[in-house]
Amino acid sequence: MKHFINKVAVITGGASGLGRAIGRRLATEGVKIMLADVEKQTLNDTVSSFKDEGYDVKGHICDVANRQSVEELAKFTLQHFGSVDLLFNNAGVAPPSGRAWEHSEKEWEWGLGVNVWGVINGISVFTPLMLKQETEGHIVNTASVAGLLSLPQMSLYCVTKHSVVTLSESLYHDLIETNAKISCSVLCPAYVPTQISDSERNRPNHLKDKRVQSKENLEMEEKVKYAVKAGKISAEDVANLVFQGIQEDTFYILSHPRIKPAVETRVTDILLNKSPTNTFSK
Ligand SMILES: NC(=O)c1ccc[n+]([C@@H]2O[C@H](COP(=O)([O-])OP(=O)(O)OC[C@H]3O[C@@H](n4cnc5c(N)ncnc54)[C@H](O)[C@@H]3O)[C@@H](O)[C@H]2O)c1
Repeated sequence: MKHFINKVAVITGGASGLGRAIGRRLATEGVKIMLADVEKQTLNDTVSSFKDEGYDVKGHICDVANRQSVEELAKFTLQHFGSVDLLFNNAGVAPPSGRAWEHSEKEWEWGLGVNVWGVINGISVFTPLMLKQETEGHIVNTASVAGLLSLPQMSLYCVTKHSVVTLSESLYHDLIETNAKISCSVLCPAYVPTQISDSERNRPNHLKDKRVQSKENLEMEEKVKYAVKAGKISAEDVANLVFQGIQEDTFYILSHPRIKPAVETRVTDILLNKSPTNTFSK
């Protein structure tokens, strides 16, 4: 996609972190921005700051796990901006870490609801609208390095992000086979300093539980929290790569090239019938 002025972008999880940075990057290109999020105050603050910077922006409260809420977002976007040219299925949460058998049903429901159903809902609701327009467009689904690797004590997050990768790959084939004018990419970042480690702030009350995490779970979580906070690649750096990826129609957007050897190890293990190597412990 090469032309951005007056195009319309819908960004879920747009109030903070990667979504906000992608929104700001696109706004500087003259794109009209619809930021969707569950976090009301942060969303209002981000919308106000975009307006102060002179950007054409709207905010809408939307829970991506809920199909009706995503349908309302689409309706609101069409009412205000008249089209949808760019879609970022970016909202995501990092549920508590745990061994594969330790996650509670509510943790699975929350993680799968936001990270997997959120992307399914976004694709199901917006792709038909974008196809009907018969104009150029692009969809970016935010997965993670956790969608390319299988990490200990992170089965839940990895399941959700592997789902986003495979859904994006199939979507890509479907768009090509149907000669669609829109294309898609999957974003797989590693550690980027955002609010992702504080995802609990957005867990709905009915999905909260009292699971007590083991010492090793908590140690693992601390390690990940530290890595996110210390991440050398900023949300703005990732947003620049995403913009470049859309311009050049790059499918896999890997913002952290140093993860590639671990991905190669996983694929090699599969091809050589080897058991999975724990690249995380290295
Ligand atoms: N930061 C990282 O290190 C990292 C690494 C890999 C992948 N990711 C992915 O990047 C995406 C963005 O996360 P981030 O790092 O910017 O974190 P963040 O917490 O700063 O932003 C996530 C946004 O999603 C919103 N959100 C949460 N639940 C929602 C729901 N049900 N409906 C709508 N919005 C909801 C939050 O309110 C928040 O604004 C996520 O999908 C995350 O899994 C992040």
